[in-house]
Amino acid sequence: MTSLIASDHNPDDLRRRESPVFMSGNLPPDVPEVFDARYGAALDSALSRRSPSRLIGAHQYRGSDRDRAAGAAFTGRRLGTTPTPERVVVANGTQSILIQLLSGLVPRGGLIAVEGLTYPTIRTFVQTLGIDVAPVAMDGEGIDPEAFEQVCRTRRPAALYTMPTLQNPTTVTMSTDRRRAIADVCRRYDVSVIEDDIYSLLPTDAPPPLSAYLPELSWYVLGTAKSIAAGLKVAYLVAPDEESAKARFWPGVRSTYWMVAPINAAVMSSLVEDDGATAIIDAVRDEIRARHELVTDALAGIDHRTTPESLHVWLPLSADRTAADLAAGALAAGASIGTSDTFYFGTGTAPEAVRFGVGAPPDRAALERGLTAVRHAYHR
Ligand SMILES: Cc1ncc(COP(=O)(O)O)c(C=O)c1O
Repeated sequence: MTSLIASDHNPDDLRRRESPVFMSGNLPPDVPEVFDARYGAALDSALSRRSPSRLIGAHQYRGSDRDRAAGAAFTGRRLGTTPTPERVVVANGTQSILIQLLSGLVPRGGLIAVEGLTYPTIRTFVQTLGIDVAPVAMDGEGIDPEAFEQVCRTRRPAALYTMPTLQNPTTVTMSTDRRRAIADVCRRYDVSVIEDDIYSLLPTDAPPPLSAYLPELSWYVLGTAKSIAAGLKVAYLVAPDEESAKARFWPGVRSTYWMVAPINAAVMSSLVEDDGATAIIDAVRDEIRARHELVTDALAGIDHRTTPESLHVWLPLSADRTAADLAAGALAAGASIGTSDTFYFGTGTAPEAVRFGVGAPPDRAALERGLTAVRHAYHR
């Protein structure tokens, strides 16, 4: 009989192909020595608590009580206080939460404010939903409060989507004062905030989330894809209050696509309860710091923006060099990297820059090969 079990080769796993080294994506590095043991223990624990049929047999619109309590504990580490579990929604990833919030908070034909350079998927979502975008100018601390206030006064956005910590793609982190200033503008113009804090768990000194200064208007999203594993597919949302969490994520909206697979949520709850999540995040942080030593060496003399706990590097180019040219050169030399136009929401042309991931290559040797290719292309 022919075996139905094929090899576990995955043709879409760009990360593991030999060439070009995959640096256009932004994944946390593999840390198998910690991850495998802690994930395995959490899986055993999840399966020992409930039978698979009880665990998996029902829809979970906002997550089980246990999973929302774990989400409250996990997000509470960032928020400074633990939210009530009733405000928490457990979902299958940040993207699902974002599209549900965009469609719920911004009417068709309405406006969302975003950082001038931001997460490209937002473009796909707003186009699908028929929402307009107001890009806001940024400086070395992220969104410029005066430019934001001007947008609020003249264009009245319903919401702001922002990444205050290790912003994608610029790696900028807003200071505490800047967070307060943006929160103040939101309060004065009644603008809801969708805060995507996905890169915040690797730095040990990240300021409190913007949402901590604006709990009544903030939808705080903390996914695990950038700090634990991209395929875990668990993200938490903290809504402004219990009623609004229920109103947006319940059977009456007639969709279920955001719902987490119960086994994933249960494993993550075990990881929160037994501190396995902390152990994995610590190991990811150690590995990313070690990789940044290679980045510092390879990019010596090249102006770039990053921090030792950032998953990505932003490399602005001088006027005589285009991002497309550098990316083509890097590809020819063996590394795939991203160009600024993908992230740009402004009018006119994007500032010339490239972004590449430090955690995406499967190991340090592959990262070194990729960095050599970027360096080579830069100096061509
Ligand atoms: C800012 C930001 N949010 C969300 C995601 C994706 O999160 P998830 O896989 O949980 O949907 C990414 C991945 O690149 C990202 O950069």
